[in-house]
Amino acid sequence: MKKRPRGMFTFTGHKGWDERIDLKLSMSEQFLIAVTAFNRAVFSNGRQNKAFNADVFDLEPDLADLVYIDTPYISPFSDCDYTRRYHFVEGYCRYWKGVELTDTTTKKFRSYDTDFSTKARARGAFQKLFHHFRKSTLAISYSSNCIPAKAEMIDMLKNEKSKVTVYESAHRYHHGNHAHKVGNNNNEVVEYLFIAE
Ligand SMILES: C[S@@+](CC[C@H](N)C(=O)[O-])C[C@H]1O[C@@H](n2cnc3c(N)ncnc32)[C@H](O)[C@@H]1O
Repeated sequence: MKKRPRGMFTFTGHKGWDERIDLKLSMSEQFLIAVTAFNRAVFSNGRQNKAFNADVFDLEPDLADLVYIDTPYISPFSDCDYTRRYHFVEGYCRYWKGVELTDTTTKKFRSYDTDFSTKARARGAFQKLFHHFRKSTLAISYSSNCIPAKAEMIDMLKNEKSKVTVYESAHRYHHGNHAHKVGNNNNEVVEYLFIAE
């Protein structure tokens, strides 16, 4: 992603390639920088840990004490089709298993359906997700530009949990390249972290 202008895979060729250092570094240089950063972030919690790549609703509801949620965010300024923008990363995470490549120069794959990416179904999807993990503490990343709005999210969380705390931070995006900010050049948002216990 760092070697793509705006971190996206929606086009081929060198459109948007400027003087940014990230675009100039080779893949091996990028890899060494990234692997060093990732390794520094890893520590042993002294337990056996598991990673899954699955539909969230196929995961056991009592999987964890704390569930961190970072869904695709619907914004009035952009769509949130991860397979269109980030198909390389999405494909790589699942070793392209179960995806259908399309006949395009970008080699993207056919979009798979997720309720979180449609305005009509997002509200129901969040309700179902909060209900699914109702036994865990929930931590949710969110933003002021998103649908459903903050107040609705809090209401839905309060249906499942007794205490909801919201942490807020004003943020200005410079390139509009964050997942839920693409296409929006106003770039003034409030980032939220909801904690529901
Ligand atoms: C905002 S991104 C998460 C980014 C990640 N937290 C990070 O920092 O790299 C949202 C992700 O949710 C995935 N997703 C969408 N619907 C899903 C579902 N029903 N079950 C599991 N994952 C889903 C998308 O494919 C996308 O990778």
